Amino acid sequence: MSTVRVFAPASVANLGCGFDVLGLALDEVGDILEMTVSEGSGISITNRTDVPLPEDIGQNVITPVIRKFFAMTGLSGRVDVTVCRKIYPGSGIGSSAASSVAAAFGMNELFGRPLPMKDLVVCAMEGENLASGGYHADNAAPSMMGGIVLIRGYEPLDLIPLPVPGDFYCTVAHPEIVVSTKAARGVLPSAVPLHDAVTQWGNVGGLVAGLFTGDVGLVGRAMKDVVAEPYRKRFIPGFDDLREKNLSAGAMAFNISGSGPSVFALSGSRETAVRAGALMKEHFTALGIGCNLYVTKVAAQGARVLAQ
Ligand code: HSE
Repeated sequence: MSTVRVFAPASVANLGCGFDVLGLALDEVGDILEMTVSEGSGISITNRTDVPLPEDIGQNVITPVIRKFFAMTGLSGRVDVTVCRKIYPGSGIGSSAASSVAAAFGMNELFGRPLPMKDLVVCAMEGENLASGGYHADNAAPSMMGGIVLIRGYEPLDLIPLPVPGDFYCTVAHPEIVVSTKAARGVLPSAVPLHDAVTQWGNVGGLVAGLFTGDVGLVGRAMKDVVAEPYRKRFIPGFDDLREKNLSAGAMAFNISGSGPSVFALSGSRETAVRAGALMKEHFTALGIGCNLYVTKVAAQGARVLAQ
């Protein structure tokens, strides 16, 4: 029997223009799992947090991740999981990815690291698919690897770590409203007009170029989304107004974080990032909505083992 305690960070997906292909890791918050493997078979999941999780373990994202790990490695065993810390589901900061990544990473540690990191992301995507009805890796990859990651392709998975400029500050507000990723994906059209596609891929290229040249202004200019945001912003009260306030206060970009309802601002200094956070808090408070705020840099490290 062996036990491991693992952490996987929250993440911001899409970064405006990069629907399903760009994401970054946030170190302020994340999930902690304790996992034990022993002889036998079966999975148990105990929730030690006050965040409600499905009673049916088949509906918990951790379960398909463990099954995928066994399927990919040919290994077997009984796995008992305790959820010790949990990001609220439906938050827009990669809650399902954090659990999925922690589960995949923990399994790999328990079994002597048979899988490379990319395969662990493949395992984690099973959890994402259960949660959202889609195999996207833009939360799971940065949560696993840390930093900012481009998913260059899905077939096969091609993960490109991108450089993070020194003056890259993130402000994320998580308002206390729930928007399920499944619902937020469900409102998207299945086709994108060519003109919008041109805008979007120009911005993805600009964002990647800005990261490589350390030009945070270019990154901000490129963080625009004409594909998903027009359909999703209705889930976030006063979204356009809040963006205007953030940009006027000096933020370089303001977008939905992943599928929402969290929102994300990019700033070139900590002072601006703090100011953006104050505006977000004020905005949601005025609407009678509580919110959690994170002002942070990109997390350099992704999933990791914690001391017992
Ligand atoms: N790319 C995904 C989406 C991220 O926007 O649906 C979900 O967090």
